[in-house]
Formats: sequence, C-alpha cells, structure tokens
Amino acid sequence: MRDHCQRPLICPICRTSLQGYGKTWRCLAGHSFDVAREGYVNLLLSRKKLAATVGDTAVMLQARRRFLASGAYDGLCAAVNQVAAECLTGVSGSPTAVLDAGCGEGYYINQVRRFLEDDVGMTVCTFGTDVAKAAIKLAAKQYPSAQFLVADTNRFIPCADQSIHLLLNMFAPRHPAEFVRVLAPGGYLLVVIPGTEHLAQFRAEFNLLDMEVEKRARVMAQFTPHLALHAERPLTFPLTLTNQQLNDLVQMMPSARHLTPAQQQALQSAPAFTTFAQFHLLLFREP
Ligand SMILES: C[S@@+](CC[C@H](N)C(=O)[O-])C[C@H]1O[C@@H](n2cnc3c(N)ncnc32)[C@H](O)[C@@H]1O
Ligand SMILES: [Zn+2]
Repeated sequence: MRDHCQRPLICPICRTSLQGYGKTWRCLAGHSFDVAREGYVNLLLSRKKLAATVGDTAVMLQARRRFLASGAYDGLCAAVNQVAAECLTGVSGSPTAVLDAGCGEGYYINQVRRFLEDDVGMTVCTFGTDVAKAAIKLAAKQYPSAQFLVADTNRFIPCADQSIHLLLNMFAPRHPAEFVRVLAPGGYLLVVIPGTEHLAQFRAEFNLLDMEVEKRARVMAQFTPHLALHAERPLTFPLTLTNQQLNDLVQMMPSARHLTPAQQQALQSAPAFTTFAQFHLLLFREP
C-alpha cells in the first residue's frame, strides 16, 4: 500500500490513526495489528462472538471468484466503473479514497481501481473490508494494489470520519450510521442490489428462492433519513450461462445451503441456460 493511503484507516479499539511499521500496524495509543503474509490486516476484535454463518464460506468464495472471472457480470462491472469515474471526477481530497464494504473476494474494488487508474488516469487509494477472513485473504493475494481489512460492517468501519469519497456496497450488509460517518463531505455511496426480476427464469426453472420484493424500498428507507438519492440506474442484461457458470451462481447464493438432492441433480446436468440479470444502482449523497 502506498504510504499516504494509510491515512484514512483508524484503530478499531480507540479510533486514532493507524500507521504501518513493517509487519505491524500501530495506532497512536499503541494498539498493534499484524499484517498477514498476504498483506491484509485483521481488525476484528472478537471473531468468537460472530455466528458461524456470518460471512461467505470458502466454497461460496471460490464459486464467486470463478463466476465473476468468467465475465458474466461484466455489464455490471462497467456500470459501476462508470459511476465511480463520474463521482470522483473533480474530487480534491487527498488521498482520493474508495472503500468497498463487504467486498468479498475483491473483484469489484479491483476493477474500479484498475479502471480509475489505467483508463481514467486518476490516482486513488482503494480499500476492501469483509467479515470473512477467507474472503479478505483471497482478495489480498490476488489484488495487492488495494488494501484489504477484515472488519464487521455491522459493528465498525475502520475508516476515519469523512475520509471516504466513494463507498461501494454491493450485495452486502449495510450500516447507515457508519457509512454516513466515513463519507467525506460531498462523498457518494453506491448501493447495488438485485432487482425483483433478477435471474427470474433461472430461479423458476430450478425452483430457487424468489428475490426480496421490498429490497429497494428497504434500502431507500435505510438511507434517505441521512442521504439524498442523487441518481438511480436500473440495469438489465441477458445472461447465457454455461453449466459451470450456473452451478457457480447457485453456490454464491445463500440458498445454496438448502438445495435438495433433486435440485442439485438438475443443476449438475443442466445445459446452457439463458436468463436476465437485473440490478438497481442507487447512488446517494449528502443532501
Ligand atoms: C453476496 S456477497 C457479495 C460480495 C461482493 N460485494 C461481491 O459482490 O462480489 C456478501 C459479502 O458480504 C460479506 N459479509 C456478510 N456479513 C458481513 C458483515 N457483517 N460485515 C462485512 N461483510 C459481511 C460476506 O462475507 C460476503 O463476502
Ligand atoms: Zn488504538
């Protein structure tokens, strides 16, 4: 990580700034955190208190990595990159900081970093947090240009007040008070959620759970007391999935834990299948 990129990060115990000293980070009060071999830092204070089902499992993470790497969601990635470039053009903060809260295995934050730096020519500091250590480990190993941290969104985002210019939150838990606290003045929050018709044909064919109908309304209710909806971008694109892609897609879903043997059998032998991806990109900003 570039030295100045450490500036937004704070200690989960006393909230003073964290500074890197080789293999250890220390805050101003002397609390210390080891840098793992892969370059990430675990800022969770009490892993034991988290339920075993919190965070994605290794199987889910590998399925997600394969699925995203296959390019199936490139349409979403391009839309997120575009929004990021529009939000950050003209930002004068130093460093310009982008955080992906609930980043999983790091695909999107790395794509945003690559796009902003290589295609737009910006210099940005990129961070990813996730409660699953296995996810952060995979992310740090594959994408050394971003800084990854194990942290629980529901408790504490390890960033200073008003330090983040763009906060991404894609299909992951949201914590309005923390998100608002870390957003820089004029900063943006981009929440990406699936639409009610997301993968509808695929869900019907394999008898998978329906999407939550009220999700968009719930996100709006969570954030509009604090932030204004600045822009909304509905996104729909066709997806023709190979057998490997559709099995990976199912493994990425929480419902994978509840598949019946008949569903597993049908998925394993399924031929290529065409469906639609549908997302809402909700961009919030201080009113
Ligand atoms: C559906 S995945 C999305 C991952 C990534 N944003 C993506 O789109 O590829 C949800 C992610 O949220 C993480 N997660 C679940 N609870 C969390 C929490 N309390 N704090 C931070 N991350 C959490 C999971 O470990 C998982 O990586
Ligand atoms: Zn401290």
